[in-house]
Amino acid sequence: NNPVDYQAEDATVVRGAVESNHAGFTGSGFVNYDNVAGSSVEWTVTVPSAGTYDVVVRYANGTSADRPLDFSVNGSISASGVGFGGTGAWPNWTTRTVKMTLAAGQNKIKAVATTANGGPNVDKITL
Ligand code: GCU
Repeated sequence: NNPVDYQAEDATVVRGAVESNHAGFTGSGFVNYDNVAGSSVEWTVTVPSAGTYDVVVRYANGTSADRPLDFSVNGSISASGVGFGGTGAWPNWTTRTVKMTLAAGQNKIKAVATTANGGPNVDKITL
């Protein structure tokens, strides 16, 4: 399928804020996860058929500490402790691809911070 962007600022954010103070984001901003374990972003995505998809997460982490995320799909853990290491500075965005098995039609993809630092700043996912 043609890749579709799902902006973090349009997703459901729990313990996080939509911000735009670091350049280089796409859309209207990015999500700054609160610096707490359990902060999360949940996207609703639509795919044409069931299967394994490359979900491309665009993020920045201006610290030197990893900010891992647990990914769940439709409520079940899909990928645990996926690392989002430092990118050098907050305006330096990069991508990390996570494989996820999705159902045909709508799916909920949730990315939950697992450490007290919270998640990286997340711009969008693309799949
Ligand atoms: C800084 C930065 C934020 C970032 C935060 C963090 O405040 O400006 O964009 O989210 O650090 O450590 O999470």
